Amino acid sequence: MELMPNLMLFLFLFLFLFLSIVSTFSAESDYVRPQPRQTLHFPRNPKSSSQPRQVHISLAGDKHMRITWITNDHSAPSFVEYGTLPGNYTSVSQGESTSYTYILYKSGKIHHTVIGPLEAGTVYYYRCGGEGSEFQLKTPPSQLPITFSVAGDLGQTGWTKSTLDHIDLCKYDVLLLPGDLSYADYLQHRWDTFGELVEPLASTRPWMVTQGNHEKESIILFKSPFDSYDARWKMPFEESGSSSNLYYSFEVAGTHVIMLGSYTDYDESSDQYAWLKADLAKVNKERTPWLVVLFHVPWYNSNKAHQGEGASMMAAMEPLLYAAGADIIISGHVHAYERSKRVYAGKSDPCGAVHITIGDGGNREGLAHKYIAQPEWSVFREASFGHGELKIVNSSNAFWSWHRNDDDEPVKSDQVWITSLAASGCAAEKNHQLKKFT
Ligand SMILES: [Fe+2]
Repeated sequence: MELMPNLMLFLFLFLFLFLSIVSTFSAESDYVRPQPRQTLHFPRNPKSSSQPRQVHISLAGDKHMRITWITNDHSAPSFVEYGTLPGNYTSVSQGESTSYTYILYKSGKIHHTVIGPLEAGTVYYYRCGGEGSEFQLKTPPSQLPITFSVAGDLGQTGWTKSTLDHIDLCKYDVLLLPGDLSYADYLQHRWDTFGELVEPLASTRPWMVTQGNHEKESIILFKSPFDSYDARWKMPFEESGSSSNLYYSFEVAGTHVIMLGSYTDYDESSDQYAWLKADLAKVNKERTPWLVVLFHVPWYNSNKAHQGEGASMMAAMEPLLYAAGADIIISGHVHAYERSKRVYAGKSDPCGAVHITIGDGGNREGLAHKYIAQPEWSVFREASFGHGELKIVNSSNAFWSWHRNDDDEPVKSDQVWITSLAASGCAAEKNHQLKKFT
């Protein structure tokens, strides 16, 4: 029995070395990356073991918000006190907690507590577990307009910090992240440093995320791929009728947002496909005229990096999303920015979706500079770090902009007005198409 920890350590080191070699090999294959910025180094956090760390919030069903935090003390309680005045907590909610081990690493106690019902567009002050600092959050509006901030493949480098600083300048309501969060890549303490890095933003506005390949941390016979991600970034999958944290949906201010998993089964016989079909059947374009979908691996990508990787998911799911009238489809993975025309089945189509690739949040792997010849559907592409902002103004019009991190200044480099499919008449035409899938 004493051999077991050593054996597990050996297996882990072997696996880590193998994966490092594979990723290094593939990173050098096609394109030259610029000098990436260093991974940030974090001073030891002096908080006591029962004080909340890594606080972040997410939408959790109609008028509710999930507060997530971590304590080193495993006996710390999981309640949240909150109210609309500083220090005056008129409500309290009891939550749940979890923790996990990963080889020699043992996580802190991860608390998830849902609070509500909450008023829309309102500032709430809250405290986690009766300890530590007071935080404040703002709930999203109940009706349009709404602004989403968008960043993918964030990591935790100097470029990540620039991106977060620029996002902080934007008056946004909800952040959308299409995968690759911490770049922990098996080193679990990096999940903790990432949690500390994003806390100033993620504790004040809901962060809605889906998973990328850098969240996959499986160890054969010991660990499933997304154990750490699922424990730390619980999203409203139960609230949206999904059986997996890897795909879910939510509605906010006239927008139905769907988060899909690029690394879980998506073919027509899969649970994810069945859930997506049922979720799309519930979309009411009167209530939510905009349909936005996010997942990690892009379907429309003219960068040489990860070329064609999204093809099988696209073959399985694009007809369904087209029939449902998806307006905007956002992905990451490729470390560059690209925006398409409305497109379907590889060609421009006025009733298709605008595809945006935004895997340029600031990760340590650098940028993807090399492109194939620009396809007719590709409008704008550039390999720079940055973030996006999607302001949905009303049921017909939205304004999308991409902000490049140019010498630490945010520069609006691409912008476009988008008309919804609900307003253009495409959505009405498609009604009968979606019925064919049900
Ligand atoms: Fe990725």
